[in-house]
Amino acid sequence: MEGFKTIIEPFKIKMVEPISITTYSQRKHYLESAHYNPFLLNSDQVMIDLLTDSGTSAMSSEQWAGIMRGDESYAGARSWRRMKEVVHELTGCPYLLPTHQGRAAERILYSYLGGKGKTFISNTHFDTTRANIEFSGAEAIDIPIPEGTVPSLEHPFKGNMDLKRLEALIAEKGAQNIGAVVLTVTNNSGGGQPVSMENAREIGSICKKNHVLFILDCCRIAENSYYIKHREAGYEHYDYKTIAQEMFNLADGAIMSAKKDGLVNMGGFLALRDKELSEACQNLLIITEGFTTYGGLSGRDMEAIAIGLEEVFEPDYLVYRIKSTAFLGDHLTSLGVPIIRPVGGHAVYVDAKSFYPHIPVEEYPGQALVCELYLKGGIRSVEIGSVMFGKYDEAGKLVPAAMELVRLAIPRRVYTQSHMEFISEVFEKLLPDKESVTGLEITQEPKFLRHFTAHFRRL
Ligand code: F0G
Repeated sequence: MEGFKTIIEPFKIKMVEPISITTYSQRKHYLESAHYNPFLLNSDQVMIDLLTDSGTSAMSSEQWAGIMRGDESYAGARSWRRMKEVVHELTGCPYLLPTHQGRAAERILYSYLGGKGKTFISNTHFDTTRANIEFSGAEAIDIPIPEGTVPSLEHPFKGNMDLKRLEALIAEKGAQNIGAVVLTVTNNSGGGQPVSMENAREIGSICKKNHVLFILDCCRIAENSYYIKHREAGYEHYDYKTIAQEMFNLADGAIMSAKKDGLVNMGGFLALRDKELSEACQNLLIITEGFTTYGGLSGRDMEAIAIGLEEVFEPDYLVYRIKSTAFLGDHLTSLGVPIIRPVGGHAVYVDAKSFYPHIPVEEYPGQALVCELYLKGGIRSVEIGSVMFGKYDEAGKLVPAAMELVRLAIPRRVYTQSHMEFISEVFEKLLPDKESVTGLEITQEPKFLRHFTAHFRRL
């Protein structure tokens, strides 16, 4: 809305889902029972759930109407054809494999392309992407631009990939040993930061020159397009969808978790240009996901994805989306809370290492902040640091992650401005006695994706 400083949510609320308001002593008990891992809390023990923006969107009335129109035929359903048409128009890829979510597409593609001796290169692999690649026996290497790893540094496209390192890695490993180059837009684990069209174009031409497969991990492609339009010269007059189409055009294929910019609660896909590769992947799809025209999805899911992928590019929605995340981020900055600047599209990332400088990385400052946010305000967030990405060396010593972040992910079309103001107030209340907060140790953990189920003990 031009001429106003207040940006209103561009929707009215037709159906409400009550939040149960809890007390401090209830939350203390709940957190202890969840072994200080908010992934193990029940959702009704949480007041504001910022665990993820994935699958947590509120669907529109059009999408709910689409749910009723879903065609549940096993093969060749109308809803499948509708989804295929929308994805085809967006990505330009002739082959589409529907999957129940992003990681199912990752497992199919990366188990086929991966294996011992293969290397995958990304601006930053998301945790499930890395896990799928490493599970196949291959290695996953992250090469964000150096600016991307300095939380306070302002840069318009901190999600970009380091092109010099990309060329050097391809030369060092040998092009035939590169499973794929995976560009994550926006760069979730790197702070939800966007990737410029110029960077994507250069990656595309380096991959083409070396005959290396170039895959877009595109689950937040609409949010990325917003930043290109508003920050990259030459794109001011493009609409958001055209920008996304141009980026897809540069790649050999795309993996999408539709649970983000598909504005749905479940779904994903793998879109490819190469016939042989898509046939090989289809074989794997049929074994574990389902027949080629539904993958792991109901007809109604595919109908909702087709509608969501159109709605997400609507300017009023995208402006509200990006500005409401920035609203929270700017409030926290004005309180002096260290966050990744500039604010990303789907989440505010707090730099927990600076927030709790007295807690060493071996005692997980990010997890400590996650616990405090829950105790003080019933807010559920997630650590993206050494709990999620830390490794042990041969001596069993922790090799920490590059950053110790806490992600406040904002579900799409779910919370209002007063929820954002409440979150700021919780931070305000954490500030005075932050020196007294202690770290945690892990008492139990699985081998892969340990952050989901690990148990902790307060030190
Ligand atoms: N790629 C990226 C960049 C993601 O952020 C995610 C999921 C996936 C792939 C996997 O998709 O969940 O549908 O299997 N991210 C969620 C998150 C879980 O909270 O950021 P999925």
